[in-house]
Amino acid sequence: MLLPTVEHKLYCWAWNRIYIKANGRVPCWCDSGETHTIIHNNFLQNDFVTDIVNSPEMRKMRLDILESSQRYIQECANCCCLLTAGERKFKRYHDSEQADNVQQQASAAYRSLKKISVTRDWPLGSIEKISEIQLEPSFPCNLRCPGCIHGIHKSPLSTEEPPYLFPIEWFKHMLDCTKAHNVEIKRIQYCGKGEPTLNKALPDMIKYAHDNNIGQSIDTNSNQEFNDTYLLLDKINCSIDGSSKEAYGTYRRKGNWNKAIDFMGTAAKHKRQTGSKCIIRWKYILFDTTESIEQLNTAQKMACELGIDELDFVITACGAFDSSVLPPRYMNSIKAVQQYIADNPIFHKTMVSRS
Ligand SMILES: C[S@@+](CC[C@H](N)C(=O)[O-])C[C@H]1O[C@@H](n2cnc3c(N)ncnc32)[C@H](O)[C@@H]1O
Ligand code: SF4
Ligand code: SF4
Repeated sequence: MLLPTVEHKLYCWAWNRIYIKANGRVPCWCDSGETHTIIHNNFLQNDFVTDIVNSPEMRKMRLDILESSQRYIQECANCCCLLTAGERKFKRYHDSEQADNVQQQASAAYRSLKKISVTRDWPLGSIEKISEIQLEPSFPCNLRCPGCIHGIHKSPLSTEEPPYLFPIEWFKHMLDCTKAHNVEIKRIQYCGKGEPTLNKALPDMIKYAHDNNIGQSIDTNSNQEFNDTYLLLDKINCSIDGSSKEAYGTYRRKGNWNKAIDFMGTAAKHKRQTGSKCIIRWKYILFDTTESIEQLNTAQKMACELGIDELDFVITACGAFDSSVLPPRYMNSIKAVQQYIADNPIFHKTMVSRS
């Protein structure tokens, strides 16, 4: 089998993933490429595998990076998905480690594209395993976080065409097409630019994907009533930044602190009652308003009381667009947060990550 002759300096880990907006638009992942539409085909009138996942447009994206080792679009330069040899893995963080194995990862991905084109007789650039579908079930949101389009734009919905809630018929069609082509979906992550639980069809989507043995997780602002169907997911990420009503309200504007804590506590309680394996994770973003040791200690104590599975302190590089809330000043490196956790061992599963 021929290997590419170029030396791979770039690797985009989104090559075998797809991000789908509530209206069916497929952008170049949910980061700097969000506004770049790769393809926007009618979902029901097209075959999800041949006309969307393996469309010429999607194949070009894969081949530009994996065959030619060149940026697909300008936005790649600032995208969290792009690993560049000799550069930091997470370009936004001063303490990030170097990206390693860029050459090997890109070569392995390209080899698998070549193999698929031969064994399946599909055009080069096609994939037969979708490592992740990131699906936006709902574009609208009931909160107004100041680092999000819903917090800064006067009419966020005017930035996208309808529909604003991903229809269940599209969802079923998408999964049925992958089944018909023997294409595996490893997992679906319900997360986009809105609040997933506002789509009333979400429980039916979760059940349908569960019946098809697909791994699933969600990011939610946790301001809605808990639905036991969510326990079919592998993980529920509860986005609750802060451990008091006041601190929480600095970023999660229009959020209801009591509802959010109740959602997370109910999830943990019902998980125990039903024997579900779903991981209940408190995704706590560190901002200058939520990073104090008192706040973090209180969160750890609450995590013990609520009986959740994980408390993840997440370092961000993005605060409010108007600077009213800033990224953390002190808890701004993995080392700093790890040191805090070592000095304050309150909850058994407190961890740190970057967003
Ligand atoms: C746009 S939200 C959509 C999902 C849901 N509405 C929520 O907030 O969880 C997607 C993810 O972005 C995260 N997020 C929001 N603001 C952020 C920020 N300033 N820095 C890093 N992550 C952020 C949320 O916590 C969530 O996990
Ligand atoms: S690195 Fe480039 S090709 Fe990959 S997801 Fe980001 S913008 Fe798209
Ligand atoms: S809850 Fe999520 S989608 Fe809604 S405004 Fe906040 S970050 Fe954006």
